[in-house]
Amino acid sequence: MRRAIFPGSFDPLTNGHLDIIRRSSPLFDEIVIAILNNPEKRPMFTVDERCEMIRDILPTVELDDCTLTVDSFSGLTADFALSRGAVAIIRGIRAIGDYEYELRMALMNRRLQPEIETVFLTAAEEYSFVSSTLMKQVFELGGRVDGLVPDAIITNMRAKLVG
Ligand code: PNS
Repeated sequence: MRRAIFPGSFDPLTNGHLDIIRRSSPLFDEIVIAILNNPEKRPMFTVDERCEMIRDILPTVELDDCTLTVDSFSGLTADFALSRGAVAIIRGIRAIGDYEYELRMALMNRRLQPEIETVFLTAAEEYSFVSSTLMKQVFELGGRVDGLVPDAIITNMRAKLVG
């Protein structure tokens, strides 16, 4: 049983994240989408809302022989990965600009937990510019993000903006 975690803020989950999940699914039996509970950030969605939204979307993500689960965590990603018995930490690389930060995190995580490998996957070109931050910014200023963020999540973003 090979389990990996896919850690992140997922505020909100984008189609770029789903692309990375699909690409990594043949490599693992289970992927835990691990939402960081970060009290320093002022997110659009609470951790519970993010968990629920992602759980609602998972049935639409068809994967062969890979189970997707959702969990939240506080503290170190490496500790969470160990606690879940994960063999790997999945991270997506969109462009070269991501690499330096991701490399530093991967090396630090390896130092913390030498048995757990970070696996980098390259995102599809069409999502190479997509980040949760950019999606929120564009959406809040009235721009369209359809095709870049799952429709169900756009509905929730709209509710946040109105509410
Ligand atoms: O989606 P993000 O914001 O790019 O994800 C970043 C995340 C959550 C993976 C990173 O900030 C993280 O791992 N935070 C948890 C604290 C930690 O382990 N820090 C040391 C990383 S080397």
